[in-house]
Amino acid sequence: MALPKLVILISGRGSNMISIVEAIEAGSLPVTIAAVISNRPNAAGIDYANKAGITTAVLDHKSFESRESFDEALADKIDSFKPDLVVLAGFMRILTTDFVHHFKNSLINIHPALLPKFKGLNTHQRAIDAGEKEHGASVHIVTAELDDGPVVLQARVPVLENDTAETLAARVLEQEHKLYPAAIKKLIEDTSD
Ligand code: GRF
Repeated sequence: MALPKLVILISGRGSNMISIVEAIEAGSLPVTIAAVISNRPNAAGIDYANKAGITTAVLDHKSFESRESFDEALADKIDSFKPDLVVLAGFMRILTTDFVHHFKNSLINIHPALLPKFKGLNTHQRAIDAGEKEHGASVHIVTAELDDGPVVLQARVPVLENDTAETLAARVLEQEHKLYPAAIKKLIEDTSD
């Protein structure tokens, strides 16, 4: 049987995308990557993917007139690869409801917080400010509401006394890199039952 196909969307360094590539190479994640797509032409993750021999595409949101026209072009581009799963990995764009509906139940995201806590940005500083003893990351199915939708898997880390947003972010990121491949594997196993 053919392996499930992923399209991964990034905006920056792409360390979560790299963790997925490494899990595939290590033989622990039975999927293929059809393409890595970035909305930023200078995303470091695109260089990595090119060097790894993965098909890449850049769709610069700045060259589109509206959020709607960008999302339509992005959906068309993704569709051209016929993926089973669309993986948001540090993709820093809010997506239109139409886009989300188009990929209903096949669009997932990683968010650096224990959802439903701390949706949105600056999650690490907000967790520290709120006096949280525990923080982490969540992989969830994307629905029309930002950072909402059913959680697939979460990873937890302690918040330490002297943590800054940076030290906490680094501790969470280390877990994200294990969490995302594990969550993708879980989703694929659940849907093939
Ligand atoms: C990660 O912390 C992710 O949870 C958040 O943005 C960051 C992206 O990092 N949404 P990277 O580009 O995968 O390295």
